[in-house]
Amino acid sequence: MSEHAPHQQPDGVRPARPHHKLTGDGRRMREVLTYSRRGSRFTPRQQQAWDAYAERWWVPDEAVDDPGFALPALFGRVAPLIVEIGSGIGESTVALAAARPDHDVVAFEVWRPGVADTLGRIGEAGLSNVRLLSVDAVWSMAHLVEPESLAALWVFFPDPWHKTKHHKRRLVTPDFARLAASRLAPGATWRLATDWADYAEQMVEVLDAEPLLEGGVVERWAERPVTKFERKGIAAGRAITDLAYRRRAPA
Ligand SMILES: C[S@@+](CC[C@H](N)C(=O)[O-])C[C@H]1O[C@@H](n2cnc3c(N)ncnc32)[C@H](O)[C@@H]1O
Repeated sequence: MSEHAPHQQPDGVRPARPHHKLTGDGRRMREVLTYSRRGSRFTPRQQQAWDAYAERWWVPDEAVDDPGFALPALFGRVAPLIVEIGSGIGESTVALAAARPDHDVVAFEVWRPGVADTLGRIGEAGLSNVRLLSVDAVWSMAHLVEPESLAALWVFFPDPWHKTKHHKRRLVTPDFARLAASRLAPGATWRLATDWADYAEQMVEVLDAEPLLEGGVVERWAERPVTKFERKGIAAGRAITDLAYRRRAPA
């Protein structure tokens, strides 16, 4: 088994999802997570979308504890698989998935009101190629996504964690870059965008150093819609950086 093959115990049980790990004497372990718990209250509109669509397109967290759980099986067809991490309210997810009816898109978002908004957007757009999970995407990339299985990976405006003491919570680190690269199919592209200059620099430094990847800063990806976070960044005078890195083909 390679370093980044999905980790399963010999009995087929996946390790515990974050927030469920306990120490030997039963205490909850502290973990460095890339997100903080935000409010989970729904607006009436979000509740309506959740009630209408969650059962169809949102995967309950416990489902991934089943040793037989597999992402591609969520779609009932064979199609290239794309992962988006931190899909927020689904503005990019839905626009990009609508333009790719022949691809399946799994969006990871731990913030439930955002998931509810996304469900509403999927419903309005009439898509059948998006599924949402609220399980930690870092854990999921390690334990649910098969090596060399992704046709693309999208990470737009990841939480910047701009205080120096919080930098360790940023998603794009050398360890995560290695893991993410291992999940891309050879030739597949990881697209990223951020409105924080020092995070953009960190992304370039980390991704340039990852031997499985090649790429760098690119022109704004025209297909990517302008999201709430991009608008906020622009309004605050921050420059937007888009990056694209390709998984190298085997030598
Ligand atoms: C700043 S928002 C950007 C949302 C969206 N991509 C956009 O461009 O508008 C980042 C989102 O990533 C989510 N997130 C951060 N770390 C995550 C993780 N490990 N797994 C799933 N979602 C995560 C947060 O909940 C948050 O909604």
